[in-house]
Amino acid sequence: MKLNFERTGNGKALVLLHAFPLFGKMWKPQIETLVEAGYSVIMPDLRGFGESHNFADINSMEDMAKDVAELLENLDIEKAVFGGLSMGGYVLFNFFRLFPEKVVSLIFCDTSFAADTDEKRLGRFGLIEKIEQDGSQALIENMLPNLTGEFTKQNNPNLIKDLEKTFSEVEPKAAIAALRGMAERKDHSELLSEIKVPTALIFGEEDKVTNLETAEKMHAEIPNSYLFVIKNAGHYSNLEQPFQFNTSLLDFLSEI
Ligand code: MLT
Repeated sequence: MKLNFERTGNGKALVLLHAFPLFGKMWKPQIETLVEAGYSVIMPDLRGFGESHNFADINSMEDMAKDVAELLENLDIEKAVFGGLSMGGYVLFNFFRLFPEKVVSLIFCDTSFAADTDEKRLGRFGLIEKIEQDGSQALIENMLPNLTGEFTKQNNPNLIKDLEKTFSEVEPKAAIAALRGMAERKDHSELLSEIKVPTALIFGEEDKVTNLETAEKMHAEIPNSYLFVIKNAGHYSNLEQPFQFNTSLLDFLSEI
């Protein structure tokens, strides 16, 4: 599957994988900082999102990881720093399991190594039914309120508006295919202690989807990990508090 992507800057390759149901452009607030720090930032649209159109019934996290490997091969990139937020992080766990030799270091943001609980899986199937009935609008009503933190809700109406617009433009079939992919994704608990590359964990303090407890478990088990907690941010920490997020990124990148 050929992915659409954006690439900015010259230097060491840094690949950023987006959250559900967003696309590569969600990393816009990070580009300038990373380019100035000497990175070439590669931001794919994972299958089904942005301009990477795909109408499969199910898009697994593993297939998405393989797409990223294919993209890097086409770009002649052997190794890179990889970051992923939420669904992008689920894809990144798969990528690291399949292609560890390609990974210089990892940045897991607001994500989890664990598979869905039964409750979470049922919630996804409920959401799929709602999308089948009401289209992508169902994502705005049923998902968005849980994603951003209280601070953002009160202080950043423009971000909420932008997210509503992006959510409403998602192809319903692609959202459903990715929800199915997330529901059936593997558990990567066993992998945590195997991660020997430097790893940043960047989590919004108010993240209710993949919470700080998850971050702390990852921090305890991944030997060479650094935990950054972003204040006044929920699940979309890079969008909600870009300055704090970018500072954490730079702190980490200067260590590796
Ligand atoms: C995301 O932000 O990618 C999703 O909220 C992840 C999820 O639903 O588990």
